[in-house]
Amino acid sequence: MNSIMTCQGICKSYGSGEMTELVLKRVDLEFFQGQASVLIGPSGSGKTTLLSILGCLLAPSEGQLLIDNQPVNFSDKSSLTEVRRQKLGFIFQHAQLLPFLTIEDNLAIIGRNAGMTDDDIQQRLDNLLARLELKAMRYKFPAQLSGGQRQRVAIARALLHRPSIVLADEPTAALDWHTGKTVVELLLEQARLEQAVLVVVTHDTRMLPLFDRILSIADGILTEQQQTAAVDNIFYTQP
Ligand SMILES: Nc1ncnc2c1ncn2[C@@H]1O[C@H](COP(=O)(O)OP(=O)(O)OP(=O)(O)O)[C@@H](O)[C@H]1O
Ligand SMILES: [Mg+2]
Repeated sequence: MNSIMTCQGICKSYGSGEMTELVLKRVDLEFFQGQASVLIGPSGSGKTTLLSILGCLLAPSEGQLLIDNQPVNFSDKSSLTEVRRQKLGFIFQHAQLLPFLTIEDNLAIIGRNAGMTDDDIQQRLDNLLARLELKAMRYKFPAQLSGGQRQRVAIARALLHRPSIVLADEPTAALDWHTGKTVVELLLEQARLEQAVLVVVTHDTRMLPLFDRILSIADGILTEQQQTAAVDNIFYTQP
């Protein structure tokens, strides 16, 4: 399996002096092609902080992030933008689509930013809109869609430029259980089809059995849980 992304001794602290808060304490992790991980932990444990570092949106205080075996240079803004546009796809709690653009244009803009040709963008749009059952939504505006439909567009947008890494921060928090589960299943299915690394933050432990790996943060320490133990735990906590 190809290693796509590696964290080497990543630490993150906020504030300074006596007010310093050490949120991540030496995170070492490797992500392989096609692997889907879920990231869990109590509120304030550093999930969004870690995801922001993986997404090249936030610099670690110490340690290194490697993408495709290349260290990410967090002090070079233009190379960071390039890495984000070419290699990363994001999904947030609320779809964050541009309200004044149609669904098609919301997606096409990502392809253009990544330097795809118009033909490639059109083919990719046709393919993803069909796969995510969004063909009828193509010329609509985000406000005309339901929450679940908007999150399906967010999946298409995250995958459009064929990123090798897809990161999702609580993508189902604004959805009911059934819609949320469908969205996560679709996200997993599509990311696996594209052989992308997928990392999803969720508070919903019912989602855990869907993933290949379970990563858990508490007190700044990241640990990996065994799937079977985690599933037993779900049955224990949710009889
Ligand atoms: N920009 C910031 N400046 C200072 N402190 C911050 C900043 N962002 C996050 N923190 C602190 O870092 C800690 C981790 O925050 P983070 O948002 O990563 O947690 P989280 O696990 O995503 O929580 P939640 O489940 O509530 O979304 C919290 O104590 C938070 O107050
Ligand atoms: Mg968060």
